[in-house]
Amino acid sequence: MRHKVRNWIERNTRLAWLGLAILVLMFVALLWNEWQSEKRASMKEVEWMPLVPLDFGLTQPIPRDIILDKGKVALGKSLFHDARLSSDDSVSCASCHDLSGGGVDNRARSLGVNGGVGGINAPTVLNSGFNFVQFWDGRAPTLEAQVDGPVNHPLEMASNWGQVLGKLMQDEDYRVRFLSAYPDGITSSNVKDALATFERSLVTPDSPFDRYLRGDKTALDAPALRGWQLFQSYGCVSCHQGSNLGGNFYERMGLMGDYFGDRGNHTEADNGRYNVTHDEADRHYFRVPSLRNVALTYPYFHDGSIDNLNDAVRTMAKYQLGRAMPDDDVEAIVAFLVSLTGRSVAEQQP
Ligand code: HEC
Ligand code: HEC
Repeated sequence: MRHKVRNWIERNTRLAWLGLAILVLMFVALLWNEWQSEKRASMKEVEWMPLVPLDFGLTQPIPRDIILDKGKVALGKSLFHDARLSSDDSVSCASCHDLSGGGVDNRARSLGVNGGVGGINAPTVLNSGFNFVQFWDGRAPTLEAQVDGPVNHPLEMASNWGQVLGKLMQDEDYRVRFLSAYPDGITSSNVKDALATFERSLVTPDSPFDRYLRGDKTALDAPALRGWQLFQSYGCVSCHQGSNLGGNFYERMGLMGDYFGDRGNHTEADNGRYNVTHDEADRHYFRVPSLRNVALTYPYFHDGSIDNLNDAVRTMAKYQLGRAMPDDDVEAIVAFLVSLTGRSVAEQQP
């Protein structure tokens, strides 16, 4: 056998050398590839991004026609703007949730009665009816239940139901309107119901993104369209999804990095859902916020620590996805986020 091989090699020396050379080349190529892919893995910036039109179907447009009792909506609107819900008649819901803007106060921390400073950033009331629970930590299961929060909170309206109902009952106009909407007139649960009904009317349909989802392929310009594709391919949509692009479940802030360690100055609000459940597994979990009208709802995050969208996107990429995002991807995603600004409430309910 060995004899035969040696004979073959002697007869085909050139072919044998060629074979050997090919083997060596293949080995070198293999090593090179290994080395390159290690280098790629250690590189911070991710260069590949598919630019095919993606649509994972995880988001839906804001519904256009929500049927609500008009009398209750109007009553809720009056209550929402009524400072008598606060102890010294100085603060209304609208003081912290400005409906002519993004439904927020654009402050890192809200100012309540007597200039009391709250512990957490005010989220928007716009489209809040689509969120699965209310508050950053989800401690209120419904919009109705949420109202107890601000009315009684010492740093917000610093009042109580006895005081509020007493003031509302002195108002002839309220007495009539409540009786026509509710057989039992002015009660705390009817005040909550009217406010919640009004809040359910605070929807902002027909943003460029909604028009795109409904089939108008020209509604997003090129940067916003690229941003939408990156929003999906980076995986933002795995948390920010549904008709509100958020508001469907809890997630941990700092999934891929120590956000709180890096930021410093730990506050009680940073505990998130843990404050409700006292389960260690829930520490730093927050209801994923909606990104609807996000261009108007600065500053960002539960701590209001970031005042512009570019940095908010970079922070998300770093701490939720473990990636450093190139500037042009950040810009594109911001263009997409700006396309989430819908028809304003002021325009719809003059
Ligand atoms: C002093 C400022 C202030 C006032 C007044 C105020 N809010 Fe808020 N609102 C906040 C803050 C801050 C939060 C977030 C609190 C939290 O998550 O712990 C919030 C949260 C909410 C939420 C939850 C939104 C979400 O996405 O989770 C709703 C709804 C809401 N407020 C409605 C109201 C209504 C109705 C009133 C009047 C009865 C009111 N607010 C009065 C500051 C205020
Ligand atoms: C693992 C889940 C998760 C992923 C992935 C994720 N986010 Fe978030 N996002 C959150 C949570 C949770 C918060 C609230 C964090 C906080 O307030 O501390 C948030 C907050 C935000 C905010 C601030 C909203 C506000 O009103 O304060 C923006 C903007 C945002 N995300 C955009 C993005 C973008 C863009 C991506 C992709 C690059 C992304 N997110 C990926 C969970 C996620």
